[in-house]
Amino acid sequence: MTVFFPQVSEFSALLPPRLAPNQIHLMVASLESLTQHREQVFSVIDQTEQTRAERFINPTHGDNFRLVRGTLRILLAAYLKQNAKDIHFDFNEHGKPLINPSQNPQALQFNVSHSHDMAAFVFTMQKPVGIDIEHIKPLNNISGLAQHVCHPKELDEFNAMEAHARQDAFFRLWTRKEAFIKAKGQGLSMGLRSIYIGFDMASAIQCVEYRGKLLADWRVKSLQCDPNYKLAAAVEV
Ligand SMILES: CC(C)(COP(=O)(O)OP(=O)(O)OC[C@H]1O[C@@H](n2cnc3c(N)ncnc32)[C@H](O)[C@@H]1OP(=O)(O)O)[C@@H](O)C(=O)NCCC(=O)NCCS
Repeated sequence: MTVFFPQVSEFSALLPPRLAPNQIHLMVASLESLTQHREQVFSVIDQTEQTRAERFINPTHGDNFRLVRGTLRILLAAYLKQNAKDIHFDFNEHGKPLINPSQNPQALQFNVSHSHDMAAFVFTMQKPVGIDIEHIKPLNNISGLAQHVCHPKELDEFNAMEAHARQDAFFRLWTRKEAFIKAKGQGLSMGLRSIYIGFDMASAIQCVEYRGKLLADWRVKSLQCDPNYKLAAAVEV
């Protein structure tokens, strides 16, 4: 798989994208940069999304949702050669958005993540894909959180780390696991402690074990974006 990984400052310059079956397109943008396209982006939001945006107590959060969803629509429209506002999303039983098959003959797959001031978008042809971006911030009780998130082998690795290395490692693992469960689309029902991906930084690409068995068709990759964020993508190959 080839990863196409621009820093998007002028996303319209990237369109229209061509996505080959063995490629992953991954785009990261600050919400500040997307705000430059605010008028265009807000104009493609549908009524359901508008209603959801208006339900946020903090209007900035509603605007952030519009920015990310509108940008997603514009990017999908370029791949699908459709009008951005006319794209119809279906949702699986865990809430993963997918494009209605009637608009998606080539089975374009996508996933989105947003944290603090950054958004990340990933696209493949046919292969289930997931992405997670997290703003790195101090966590209260990181050891307690690790017990909920880590596989027993991961917990041993985590506990063996120097205290100063734990925050970075935790967010690295968190984004890898979240990207994987988002690609699978089954949400937290998979059981985070049943998934082993590990903290390894030496390998460019991670494999996944689920309930003690290697998932031979799955790959997870941590990617560099901004020093204050962790980013990972997962794909079935
Ligand atoms: C729904 C879930 C994907 C939320 O993830 P999140 O980190 O809060 O949010 P992200 O910004 O990364 O992703 C949200 C986007 O993923 C998509 N999404 C929603 N449900 C999804 C699902 N079940 N599978 C894949 N993608 C999903 C949507 O596009 C959503 O965007 P929207 O909120 O603008 O509609 C889910 O995995 C969850 O609730 N996670 C809890 C977080 C946690 O405890 N993680 C443990 C870390 S290992």
